[in-house]
Amino acid sequence: MDLRVSVPVGLLVLIIMSTGVTGQDPCSDYIVLNETSRNVQQVNDGSAKNCDREFNGEWYRFMGPAGNVMPTEAPPNWNRCGADAPMWMNGQHPTLADGEVSRQACAYWGGVTCRWQTTIQVRACSAGYFVYKLPAAPVCSLVYCGASDDNNECADDTDNCHDQATCTNTDGGFNCTCNDGYSGDGVTCTDNNECADDTDNCHDQATCTNTDGGFNCTCNDGYSGDGVTCTRACPVGYGEDYGFGKCLRVLKRPLTYSMAKTHCQARGGRIFQLDNAADVNRTKTILERVGTNLNRYVGMWVGLTDETTEGTFAWEDGTPLDSGDFSDWAPQPYNHNSKRRDCVQMKRKFNWQWVVRSCMRVKNLFVCEPN
Ligand SMILES: *[C@@H]1O[C@H](CO)[C@@H](O)[C@H](O)[C@H]1NC(C)=O
Ligand SMILES: *[C@@H]1O[C@H](CO)[C@@H](O)[C@H](O)[C@H]1NC(C)=O
Ligand SMILES: *[C@@H]1O[C@H](CO)[C@@H](O)[C@H](O)[C@H]1NC(C)=O
Ligand SMILES: *[C@@H]1O[C@H](CO)[C@@H](O)[C@H](O)[C@H]1NC(C)=O
Repeated sequence: MDLRVSVPVGLLVLIIMSTGVTGQDPCSDYIVLNETSRNVQQVNDGSAKNCDREFNGEWYRFMGPAGNVMPTEAPPNWNRCGADAPMWMNGQHPTLADGEVSRQACAYWGGVTCRWQTTIQVRACSAGYFVYKLPAAPVCSLVYCGASDDNNECADDTDNCHDQATCTNTDGGFNCTCNDGYSGDGVTCTDNNECADDTDNCHDQATCTNTDGGFNCTCNDGYSGDGVTCTRACPVGYGEDYGFGKCLRVLKRPLTYSMAKTHCQARGGRIFQLDNAADVNRTKTILERVGTNLNRYVGMWVGLTDETTEGTFAWEDGTPLDSGDFSDWAPQPYNHNSKRRDCVQMKRKFNWQWVVRSCMRVKNLFVCEPN
């Protein structure tokens, strides 16, 4: 056995070409091994002394005349693949799902099918071919062999799968399956619009942006988080959430309605108004949780009055309470209105349903929210 180091010119060119390649994905960033001499069918008369001594753990793909895979059985004899000792892979190829796996590469020499060994890494790529991470041959002349898997349309690149499909070799054919985030028959795959289909998992307070093969969730202004969970960034003094997605501060300080409003304004906010039916329920939850000494309070101001026009109720922001809107009035006769009663209170005695009371009553707690 000749221990000279000899590298085929074509290979040298390829090594030089690969210098400076810094990408991470071995399925798109590999060195091509395509010399005819490397194919396991090439019988060596003893004159070819190629050697993979210069290999250094880069990722390689077998292509063209070299074949499309590494042989998984010992070659019929040594003196093949342009070397004294042909190297073959002692194990099966991984599936796509297996990811990167370790295998033993064996060099066949002098009747011993595994005379020298190296440890190589192998992975299947979604386009159906394999890439191999190959260390230097331990001695010369040893060469990693290629073989042609003639029935592997995926590895041969003779399949018609879409760029965004996974090619699976099958007995007598191949299957194309669109990758995650794409739909179609595998020959044609189109990007799913998860945002429009409502199959995204963005938070209520996030904006969904469709991307190729996926989607992005970005928390709306005033919220922070990863887009799947967004929390309100609350001003100082506000912070209780109670599941509202709002910044709130519950004041257990009985004040008249106008004093309550002034109190909130002094804290850069306004008195909390109910925005929808869900707020009604959530507010009841707050009231149940606020404390044990609720007896001090007869109710809670909710930001709804008919102070401007007697008999016409409007929320603090000026929105009128129209007949079709949500409401939670206590049953008659308890919600009776009058000229002297302008302010709506959620009344404890009536399970926190609404009644109209004098705005001068001082036995209501209230909630502020920031402007
Ligand atoms: C081998 O690959 C190189 C680079 O991809 C290419 O230029 C060359 O033509 C190929 N040779 C053969 C025999 O396929
Ligand atoms: C090929 O795809 C068809 C249809 O999706 C499926 O029924 C079959 O099991 C697949 N064959 C293999 C070997 O994956
Ligand atoms: C998706 O979000 C990431 C991280 O926020 C960002 O880097 C990327 O540019 C976004 N992509 C698109 C298409 O918006
Ligand atoms: C409010 O709570 C009641 C009783 O638990 C329930 O029947 C109703 O559907 C809830 N309404 C909303 C808008 O959540």
